[in-house]
Amino acid sequence: MQKLLIKGKKELSGTILISGSKNASLPILAASLLAKEVKLHNVPLVKDIFTMLELLKFIGVKIKIKNNKRSIILKNNKKIKTLAPYKLVKTMRAGVLVLGPLLTKYGKAKVSLPGGCAIGTRPVDLHLFALKQLGAKIKIKDGYISAEAPNGLVGANIKFPSISVGATENALLAAFNAKGNTILSNCAIEPEILDLISFLKKLGSKIKISGRKIKISGKMSSIKNINHKIIFDRIEAGTYLIAGSLLSKKIVIKQINPKVLKYEIKILKKMGVKISIFKNSIFISKSKKLKKIYLTTKPFPGFPTDLQAQFMVLMTQANGISKIKENIFENRFMHVPELRRMGAKIKIKNKTAFIFGPSKLNGAEVMATDLRASVSLVLAGLIANNRTVVNRIYHLDRGYESLEKKLKKCKAEIKRI
Ligand code: UD1
Repeated sequence: MQKLLIKGKKELSGTILISGSKNASLPILAASLLAKEVKLHNVPLVKDIFTMLELLKFIGVKIKIKNNKRSIILKNNKKIKTLAPYKLVKTMRAGVLVLGPLLTKYGKAKVSLPGGCAIGTRPVDLHLFALKQLGAKIKIKDGYISAEAPNGLVGANIKFPSISVGATENALLAAFNAKGNTILSNCAIEPEILDLISFLKKLGSKIKISGRKIKISGKMSSIKNINHKIIFDRIEAGTYLIAGSLLSKKIVIKQINPKVLKYEIKILKKMGVKISIFKNSIFISKSKKLKKIYLTTKPFPGFPTDLQAQFMVLMTQANGISKIKENIFENRFMHVPELRRMGAKIKIKNKTAFIFGPSKLNGAEVMATDLRASVSLVLAGLIANNRTVVNRIYHLDRGYESLEKKLKKCKAEIKRI
């Protein structure tokens, strides 16, 4: 099994190019089932994307990848399977996103229940709630969701009882070909969802957003030659901004839109990090004294749960007691015991972590437990004394493209063995 070896305390300097967003690419790849032919650009070539491509291939989509350009061409066959098997959905929950497009286009779909995962139970009840309101008949049997709408889906007014990124995406995808209009309320409005909407518009859908309300007029499209460039990965950018805040003489983060990172930039400035914003880049350098902060994870435009673990590492270096409340997932502090083994002083009470800083971190052998927890251990290793070994980095490979290459380019001592 591969590991990362990190020799800490190296000052970082250089340029980091941010990849395309994994979380935008996944629903857009699922949405490509709705088109005849699609060319996607700026797709990050990470494990989760390959898993989604494998699933689409299984369904019957023809796929060509141009590695150097991060481009993927997807062509829909006439012969397709409306099935997403367990083996392809169990490793990546986003596989459930093919449910909406298959159901709306072919009137039926059988998709494996994704099950729980390390960070929480992560049910799909909200996805199914929306599909049922659009007229789908749904049965759960033998670990599979079987959905049917032989006469097609019908537009509806749907108010989500709580905000979910995946459920909003599945509902949007299903409403794409429903008869009449659909109004979704209490939606997630993450930038990745806005990217999916801009893709669906290219496919011919009429979509209007106002606050957390989205109106869709469904219509199957026959438009060919659709080109779409995936937005940048704001979580990857946020991760490197934190690396820069901890260790950089001067790091330039490029290929981004700083407006999307408004909240993260505000937090970093509040903590005392030196940061200069340009149109498509950010310059960041370490500050001598970091201030404590209190954060609560919330749906966008709030503080993202996907940056909670990384910000916690930054908090270990701030003066005073910082706090993070995790409001989205029930079990997303698994990095804490590992950070403690490296010398971090962190206490957890209910949903809140109290981080006592600043504390000196020491290199250790640690275990990655999920995608974002893994990268927080890499950040901790970069600031720790001596050598850190991060095990189980397959979690990291699910979502970070060329992590060690990007860090090495900025003079970090990191290698994969
Ligand atoms: C997406 C992101 C993930 C991010 C999360 C929250 C992708 C591929 N993944 O995951 O990186 O951490 O948003 O920003 O884009 N819930 C239910 N029932 C449902 C669906 C969700 O109770 O049917 C709950 C979840 O358990 C969780 C909360 O709603 O507590 C938010 O989850 P959701 O927004 O759906 O996350 P994902 O789409 O799975």
